[in-house]
Amino acid sequence: MIGPLNHVGVAVPNIEKAIAFYRDIMGVNDITEPKDLPPQGVTYAFVNLPSGQVELIQPYGEKSPISKFLKRNPKGGQHHICFEVKDIHEASIFMAERGMRVLNEPRIGAHGTLVVFLHPGDSGGVLIELMESPKEDH
Ligand code: CO
Repeated sequence: MIGPLNHVGVAVPNIEKAIAFYRDIMGVNDITEPKDLPPQGVTYAFVNLPSGQVELIQPYGEKSPISKFLKRNPKGGQHHICFEVKDIHEASIFMAERGMRVLNEPRIGAHGTLVVFLHPGDSGGVLIELMESPKEDH
C-alpha cells in the first residue's frame, strides 16, 4: 500500500543552525532555503541526499504543532517519517477503515502535494505522514 520513504522529519529549535550543521559538519551541499508554511505552522528546509531527504522543521507562528514537541525535546529531535502514497484520499479511507486515527483532512504539504498525519498511538509511537506522490517525476 505505501510507496517509497520520502523523508524523515526532524524538529529543530533553530533552522539556520540545523542547516549549518548539515552543511558544515555532515558535508551536504544540497539544502533548500527555509520556507514558511503557515497552514501547517512550520518553517521547513530539505536536506537532499541521494536516498531521500531530511525535512528540518522549525515552529512558525504561535500555534505550531511542533511547539509542544520542542518543549519536551528542547534540542530538537526526530519527529515523523513520511511515506508516499498514490492517492491520499484512498489511503486515508484505507487507514481509517483499519482503525487508524487520521489526524487531518488532506492538506497541501511541503512538497506541494496533499498530506495527512496518522496518530502515533496507532503506529508504534511513530508519527507517520502520508504524502501523495508528485504527479510528474523528473
Ligand atoms: Co514531513
